[in-house]
Amino acid sequence: MKILTILGARPQFIKAGSISREIKKNKNIKEVIVHTGQHYDANMSDIFFEEMQIPRPDYFLGIGGRSHGAMTGQMIEKIEEVVLKENPDLILVYGDTNSTLAGAIVASKLHIKLVHIEAGLRSFNMKMPEEVNRILTDRVSDILFCPTDTAVKNLKKEGFDNFNCKIIKSGDVMQDGAIFYKNLSKKPDIEIKDGFILCTIHRAENTDDELRLRDIFGALKEISKKREIILPLHPRTKKILDTLDIDVTNITIIEPVGYLEMVWLIDNCSLVMTDSGGLQKEAYFFKKPCITLRDETEWVELVENRFNILAGADKTKILDIFASLENLFCKDYSKNLYGDGYASKKIIQELIKDGSDNRAVSK
Ligand code: UD1
Ligand code: UDP
Repeated sequence: MKILTILGARPQFIKAGSISREIKKNKNIKEVIVHTGQHYDANMSDIFFEEMQIPRPDYFLGIGGRSHGAMTGQMIEKIEEVVLKENPDLILVYGDTNSTLAGAIVASKLHIKLVHIEAGLRSFNMKMPEEVNRILTDRVSDILFCPTDTAVKNLKKEGFDNFNCKIIKSGDVMQDGAIFYKNLSKKPDIEIKDGFILCTIHRAENTDDELRLRDIFGALKEISKKREIILPLHPRTKKILDTLDIDVTNITIIEPVGYLEMVWLIDNCSLVMTDSGGLQKEAYFFKKPCITLRDETEWVELVENRFNILAGADKTKILDIFASLENLFCKDYSKNLYGDGYASKKIIQELIKDGSDNRAVSK
């Protein structure tokens, strides 16, 4: 079986780390990796392939740093060329980026079976580019691997039972990665104070709205008087901060880090503050409270169980939550919200089974 995997952005490299490791165990599967180039800085891309031993991409399309339309359109054109040349049995896409959508459109136009990992997630905010990407990708997918029961329910509510597709609850592949890389984690080469807070900000709804960004950094400034805040800065946010007069002097801003250092930071911090999707879950995997700097989340089970509190970009709310950390969060992590750490194995087994079922039908 030949699988053509489309990757492009940092969270996809991290998810692919677990799936590619599982693929390598099966000598009957050949994986061809296409990197769209959506993320291209060495510390947003190469470092993950090196540290996580993800196979080097077979194709690098070099399409990053453009508007949504230009980026997605150029990706569709280039991915189509590769797919026509490689003629894979399956196309595999992850998550909700523009690279995901481009891969999904090519698969659907060329009638190649499309597999979506992290299917069924919804924020119900159609202004988020990611929400549009996920809904469109899910709709044209043939096999949808859902990380949670909520994701399965979302698809059923949207009528997916009536479509010609398979919906499978697999658990979360990021949990597999967190377990595997924990023992390989390494401390970043900087001085770090005990009890530090780990913070990341990159979501368009925050970076592209000056008032929200000012409110978030206003809150971080107050909090940084009490605890060190380490903020590995996403290039999108760096670009915007460079144009605004926002005081970040008390915050320890560092370059984006590789996954091994990131895992160390998550494992050793006292609190996560983020607008990232993946980091909300990782906070839970490493038993850390998380203040989410968004108005809604796809990972609703974290909020329902009080592992995560949504603060939006409201400075007062962020500071109020910080002031009451001890009382607001659940400390019992015995619930297994994202599966057993074998999601990647389950996904690959299901794909092998699907391949042999199809061969049996066509005989
Ligand atoms: C993308 C995804 C988002 C995901 C995030 C993960 C979409 C619509 N968004 O957002 O869902 O959470 O990746 O990090 O696909 N840039 C660089 N160097 C890089 C990468 C980006 O300088 O290596 C800068 C470029 O100026 C680019 C900007 O960051 O224009 C935004 O990058 P882009 O890939 O468009 O979106 P992200 O905000 O990274
Ligand atoms: N991450 C990383 N280095 C960093 C910041 C984040 O390795 O400097 C990891 C993080 O731990 C998570 C993934 O990148 O696994 C999340 O990516 P991001 O926040 O960019 O995207 P999202 O999950 O919001 O789509």
